Amino acid sequence: MAAVRGLPWFAKVYLVLVIGAAFVLLGYSVLSGGRLDRLDWSNLMVLTLLFLVCESVPTLLNVRQAAVSVSFSAVLAAVVLLGPEGAALVGVTAMFSVRPGLPLVKRLFNSAQFAICGYVAGRVYVGLGGTPGVPTIAGFDDIIVPFAGAAAVFVPLNFMLIALVLVLTGQADQVPLRGIVQFMVSYFGYATFGLLIAGLWATVNSISAVLVLLPLFVARWAFGQYLAQQRSYDATIAALCQAVETKDYYTRGHCTRVSQAAGMIAEEIGMGSERLRAIRYAGMLHDVGKLGVPTKVLQKDGPLSEEEYAAIQLHPMRGLEIVRGIDFLDEAFAGIMHHHERQDGKGYPMGLAGDEIPEFARIIAVADAFDSMTSDRSYRNARPREVAMAELRKGAGTQFDPVMVVAFIKAVDRDGWEPPRTVVAPPADVAETTAKDHDDPTVPIQVVSER
Ligand SMILES: [Fe+2]
Repeated sequence: MAAVRGLPWFAKVYLVLVIGAAFVLLGYSVLSGGRLDRLDWSNLMVLTLLFLVCESVPTLLNVRQAAVSVSFSAVLAAVVLLGPEGAALVGVTAMFSVRPGLPLVKRLFNSAQFAICGYVAGRVYVGLGGTPGVPTIAGFDDIIVPFAGAAAVFVPLNFMLIALVLVLTGQADQVPLRGIVQFMVSYFGYATFGLLIAGLWATVNSISAVLVLLPLFVARWAFGQYLAQQRSYDATIAALCQAVETKDYYTRGHCTRVSQAAGMIAEEIGMGSERLRAIRYAGMLHDVGKLGVPTKVLQKDGPLSEEEYAAIQLHPMRGLEIVRGIDFLDEAFAGIMHHHERQDGKGYPMGLAGDEIPEFARIIAVADAFDSMTSDRSYRNARPREVAMAELRKGAGTQFDPVMVVAFIKAVDRDGWEPPRTVVAPPADVAETTAKDHDDPTVPIQVVSER
């Protein structure tokens, strides 16, 4: 019970209350009054087995939502097939799910909350005229309304019991309050699987559970595979970023922040989720071409020769060459290639102007300049946020797309911006630093003509 010791007293009281309430429920309502004799034990066994498999298998798939959604369909099916007592008994077996390493107190709480929700939903089902037992095909219509009532109580009660434990144990940030409407709607959607299991029971008996849940499992498994693939994409991108950032000690975290700021602008202008992902990748990788710029050019003090400046201006093309083979980057390529174009056409590498510049590149240009200005560099300290914003406004229309500047300022005013930590200059020879930043609009690179 080491997990309990560190908890605040009110969290302990809450846990004891919930677990105690489940015990009282089971003791008085289930074990007394001969209700157990009326239970259909074979159906109870099948549903319990189904519930335990659902509670255990998703852990192996590592898809948390599947664990919740599928197992609660089994408890709701038990509400119809077995009534409140049976649903509570099915729920309480969460205690025995195969989830290695899950502390005893979590097991106890989990089974208690399932038992309480199952019992209460069962009471609502009966209260609305539902008769516990296997529904006949002709009687299916009669269970729809009571079932809807049971689900309407089960879902919020389950949410409340879990949300409260998260709040009391200091994990309030894990309560999905922002997307609560989608959360509730999707869970009511999953609840219908419980109704389907119960409805099909009359014709195919316990096979109904397999028929209903197997496609759901397959879909969830595929989704798990998709998530794993996304994680490996993210790791690939992060590794490339790290390689770029070793070029300059002062730009550590720059790629990630540009990616974040670009995402904020994209969201503000209403970009869809697929493009949002791509713009975040573009933000991460926009300067990957710096790997192809000779370090001695980046580290050179004083003005650059035209040739050296040309090497810097080539970095967007070099970037594209490096990542061209990564096909999931899609539109991100345009962002990488054109992130130094200017609205007035005086940028590089192509000298595109206005709307000729791809939207991704116009977004990255703003995010990139802002992060450069608000970060420490070897030749100056970070500028305050307001100064950087003023600089963006000043450059709107000439260097930056005014729409993106306005969108960024709006997003930062609303959601805030976490500036990078102050950089303590590293001892010489320990880390590479550069003498200039090509992203800094306030200190343009000086070039001397060789002619
Ligand atoms: Fe760049």
